[in-house]
Amino acid sequence: MTIEYLALQGMRNFASLSLSPSPQINLISGSNGSGKTSLLESIHYLAYCKSFRTHKQKFLIQHGKPSLTAFCKINGKQLGIERTAKSERRIKLNGEWLHSAAELASLLPVQLLDPTMFKLLEGSPQFRREYLDWGVFHVEHDFISLWRQFKTAHKTRNALLRQGGCELNERQIWHESLAGFANQITTMRKSYLSRLKPVFDEYLHSLNPDLDVSMSFYQGWGKDKDYLETLNQGWASDLKQGFTQLGPQRADLRLKVKGVPAVEVISRGQQKMVVCALKLAQAKLYQEATSSPCIFLVDDLAAELDITHRKALCSLLEELECQVFVTAVEAAQIADCWSPSSNVKKFHVEHGNLVEALTPE
Ligand SMILES: Nc1ncnc2c1ncn2[C@@H]1O[C@H](COP(=O)(O)OP(=O)(O)OP(=O)(O)O)[C@@H](O)[C@H]1O
Ligand SMILES: [Mg+2]
Repeated sequence: MTIEYLALQGMRNFASLSLSPSPQINLISGSNGSGKTSLLESIHYLAYCKSFRTHKQKFLIQHGKPSLTAFCKINGKQLGIERTAKSERRIKLNGEWLHSAAELASLLPVQLLDPTMFKLLEGSPQFRREYLDWGVFHVEHDFISLWRQFKTAHKTRNALLRQGGCELNERQIWHESLAGFANQITTMRKSYLSRLKPVFDEYLHSLNPDLDVSMSFYQGWGKDKDYLETLNQGWASDLKQGFTQLGPQRADLRLKVKGVPAVEVISRGQQKMVVCALKLAQAKLYQEATSSPCIFLVDDLAAELDITHRKALCSLLEELECQVFVTAVEAAQIADCWSPSSNVKKFHVEHGNLVEALTPE
């Protein structure tokens, strides 16, 4: 997917902005507080109807303005989102109103590399499950409906546990249904990971050949154990806790170096490379499954990465032939990282105004 045109009104410090980005590399420079992250945030907002910086979307609206509008053209399609300070949101795609943001799920496949990406290593398993399930969702069409059905059965079991239990035959029915969904979800996750792992290893090797990170999957309950049996055996203990302790809702992706969690032993720059390799691998599998490239948002590319590693990351992004938006405080930090054959556009932001830097002939 490629953003051909982007326009914003009343978003963060942009009163009004429009740009026609390069289908390949877009470099955005500007001093602290000029609006670089806000520009990437607006693309993320168009993709997922939410910011990556705040859970309260109303903070995206420019101070004193009643609403924001974000609009883009993607491969000929027109997408617009309007949000008012009263939390009303309207989404229009090709002139038709959409009922829910979920309908946008595959329109703008955005991969984000920004300071929040470290949560993938240091945060709770939920961040890694979200990462994993984003990939599974895009390659396995039944995944989302299975996951919803699992959640419903899971909620019911938890409600039964909270009310102090139920008849054995009722419990058995729910356990069998839960186990059926859990096993299918887990099979999909494992199959996705078996494809992701070699691609991740290859990307990590290209970014840093000395870094040896092992990836393993925790399915959410005992390895090689039957989930139906686990649910039955865990009933008494779950009754005491008042919730289902084991299951795919507890799955995790474990990244280790010499047997210990990677985050405990590798440097910040190395962590950034591990997360970059994860996101690149996911983008590659997405592209193989859909024949359409992801869009990369890279905030503060230079942070934590020396020039060698910066160039390594940039050439991998170029190889993927995806559209990239990269920010830096100083234009020079990201200017020389690209191949002369790439279509590079340079933009400069200043106090919420954006200008395109003309490239000398
Ligand atoms: N709702 C809002 N209305 C108006 N301005 C806002 C709003 N939210 C944030 N800002 C301002 O927008 C500016 C741009 O912020 P942004 O985080 O995009 O800057 P940046 O260029 O990424 O800076 P840095 O280099 O420090 O990361 C900041 O000055 C911020 O205070
Ligand atoms: Mg920023």
